[in-house]
Amino acid sequence: MTHFLDIHKTDPADLRNMLDQAGAMKTARAGMPKGTPDADQPLANHMVALIFEKPSTRTRVSFDLGVRQMGGQTMVLSGSEMQLGHGETIADTARVLSRYVDLIMIRTFEEDVLLELAEHASIPVINGLTNRSHPCQIMADVMTYEEHRGPIKGKKVVWCGDGNNVFASFAHAAGQFGFDLTFAGPEVLDPEQVFIDEARAKGVTVEIDRNPERAVEGADLVVTDTWISMHDSQTARERRHNLLRPYQVDEHLMSHANPDALFMHCLPAHRNEEATDGVMDGPHSVIFDEAENRLHAQKAIMRWCLGV
Ligand code: CP
Ligand code: NVA
Repeated sequence: MTHFLDIHKTDPADLRNMLDQAGAMKTARAGMPKGTPDADQPLANHMVALIFEKPSTRTRVSFDLGVRQMGGQTMVLSGSEMQLGHGETIADTARVLSRYVDLIMIRTFEEDVLLELAEHASIPVINGLTNRSHPCQIMADVMTYEEHRGPIKGKKVVWCGDGNNVFASFAHAAGQFGFDLTFAGPEVLDPEQVFIDEARAKGVTVEIDRNPERAVEGADLVVTDTWISMHDSQTARERRHNLLRPYQVDEHLMSHANPDALFMHCLPAHRNEEATDGVMDGPHSVIFDEAENRLHAQKAIMRWCLGV
């Protein structure tokens, strides 16, 4: 079964082919109204279940639109309204959905839910974000970097802030696409060591630097994300803000990066917390290209999963 569970679990040649196909599909639709069907309809007669146990704007809309552009149909399901949220096992849910639909995308909390669903489904499963990773986002981000600046291989990416699920997928991508990665954040919010070790084992440099200005020296790409993720407790809000404030991406910090550095944020953002308006709306920012490229990258991911 061809699941898309994480970037480090997917063959690098397949990842590259997906980005090539995403770019080609994007080009083919340039200038068309959003609802125009693609010339190819590889998902014709396919039904896709989109399951959300957490809120979403981009993931929900881009998957739904992408399926429709490729000729398929979707059903968007809220985890809390399914029996899944009321005691039915993940394994049984996987077996049942496998009788009805051709593909499942799930956004959930614990990674184990995703893995168990994939283990028991006889159809492909896509990770639409867990507490531990967000691979679809970083496929869109690599696509976005390369659209603007060419190959990401050998470039320096600097992450400022919380060592969260989005950072983890950047670490996975560093190993697979061959870019160097620096984490700049407070020690108590360090990423899991396994993400760093796995990337290093693939031959890329991964560093931790507590000094944000030093970290972004020579950066080709500066990235941040919300200081409090959907799975984080709100009770620690003030403490996290105090810890993370020195890592806010503002114009001064960006001035330490390479002059042609890009700035990314997966969104949703808390403006003037993790990044200032001046950076979010400034000349380095490609945040809305990232959001658009979720659509194109995920269309290619779905085609790869279904082999169509
Ligand atoms: N970046 C992202 O996944 O956004 P949503 O939470 O809106 O889906
Ligand atoms: N780290 C964020 C990403 C949202 C797309 C979260 O998990 O809430």
